[in-house]
Amino acid sequence: MNLDFTAIVPSIPYILKGIGVTLQIAIGASIIGFIVGILLALCKIGKVNFLRWFADFYTSIFRGTPLVLQLLIIYYAVPQLLDIQIEPIPTAIIAFGLNSGAYISEIIRAGINAVDKGQMEAAQALGIPYAKMMKDIIIPQAVKNILPSLVNEFITLNKETAVVTVISALDIMRRAYIVGGSTYRYLEPLLFAGVIYYIMTLVLTFLGKRIEKGMRKSD
Ligand code: ARG
Repeated sequence: MNLDFTAIVPSIPYILKGIGVTLQIAIGASIIGFIVGILLALCKIGKVNFLRWFADFYTSIFRGTPLVLQLLIIYYAVPQLLDIQIEPIPTAIIAFGLNSGAYISEIIRAGINAVDKGQMEAAQALGIPYAKMMKDIIIPQAVKNILPSLVNEFITLNKETAVVTVISALDIMRRAYIVGGSTYRYLEPLLFAGVIYYIMTLVLTFLGKRIEKGMRKSD
C-alpha cells in the first residue's frame, strides 16, 4: 500500500481553484443550453414543418455523437474556418451549451406536452396570443414539472465538464492531472478530484431538492 496524500497537500489550493472554472463552464453552458432548449422545444411542438425537422435534426446530431468530439470540433474548427482563436473556457461553454440544449429541449418538450391540454384550450378560448400563452401559462407550469430533470441535467453537465481537459482548460480534472505529472503521483490527486466532484454533486442535489420543495409550497 503506497498512498501518500501529504505529497499533494501543497497542490490542494491549485486543484481547488479548478472548482471556479468547472462551475463557470457548467453555469455558462446551462444558460446557453436552457435558451437553446426552449427554442428547440418550441420548434418541436410548433406547426412549422421545417422548424420541427430542424429541431429534431439538431437533437439527433448532438445526442448522436460524443460530446468530447463536438468539443474538439468546435475548438479546432473555429480557428481553421474563421481565422480566430477562442480560448478553451468560452469554447467549452459554447460546446457544452449547444450539447445540453439538445437534451434540455427534449425535457422541455415532454414537460410542455404534459401540461393539461385544457390549459391551452382555455387560453385559446380567451383569445390569449400564442406567445403570451406559452410564456405566462404553459412554460411556467412545464418548468415546475420538469425541475427534477433539469437539476439532473445540470448535475450531468457539471460532471461532463471534466471532458474539457482535452482542450487544456484548467478545470478540476486538468489540474489534478497536472499535479499528478509534477509529483509523479497520479492516484492521490485523481482521488482528490473525485471527492470534489462528488461533494459538488451532493450539494447540487441538495439545492435541487430545496428548490423543488419551495415550488411545491407555492402551489
Ligand atoms: N458522455 C455523453 C456523450 O458524450 C454525455 C453527453 C452529455 N449529456 C447531457 N445530458 N448533457 O455523448
